[in-house]
Amino acid sequence: MKNPMIDLIMSRRSIRQYSEEPVSEEMLKMIVECGIHAPTARNKQSWHFTVITDQKTIETVNEMTLAGMDRLGIKKEPGYHVFYHAPVVIFLSSAIEGFSEINCGCAIENVALAAKALGLGSVIVGQTRYMFHQANVVDVNRLLKIPEGYEHDCAICIGHPAGPGPDPKTIKEGVVDYIR
Ligand SMILES: Cc1cc2nc3c(=O)[nH]c(=O)nc-3n(C[C@H](O)[C@H](O)[C@H](O)COP(=O)(O)O)c2cc1C
Repeated sequence: MKNPMIDLIMSRRSIRQYSEEPVSEEMLKMIVECGIHAPTARNKQSWHFTVITDQKTIETVNEMTLAGMDRLGIKKEPGYHVFYHAPVVIFLSSAIEGFSEINCGCAIENVALAAKALGLGSVIVGQTRYMFHQANVVDVNRLLKIPEGYEHDCAICIGHPAGPGPDPKTIKEGVVDYIR
């Protein structure tokens, strides 16, 4: 069955190398719009998107996350950058309540697919959670403009891919059952 949306879903891969070309405001707005159109349990939309293009802030969060990883003894390659030097990083946070992680999962996939549809690359980053093992939580929340009563879930890097990106991946077998 041929369908552009299905092709998009099937061909999306995480991109971890970005060119220096900035992402246009128009594209960024459209991507965020797609994120906030994702479904949420009971339509609460109790999430918050922090869109960061300021490289100094991205660097600060990168350093805090690396420091948190060090403190937990998590190994990483020399020169590792949590955000792969992406020009845009979107942080998702949500009200602390049931289903918040699932809500953010729906939104982040919308963001990834919208980015792909516009010819951009993306990678979801869950390692940002390590920054809370290093930094003062209140300061991080202020830095990322996370509203009171919300907590950070995950982030997504976005940018123009520097190369063709990875090949299609092998899909694990035996993960689907049909009951007919
Ligand atoms: C919840 C979540 C957290 C992730 N965290 C990271 C991360 O911190 N760093 C990273 O490079 N990739 C991260 N990824 C990307 C996965 O490694 C990637 O999706 C997986 O290897 C499958 O590859 P694909 O996205 O190319 O299909 C994360 C993905 C998800 C869904």
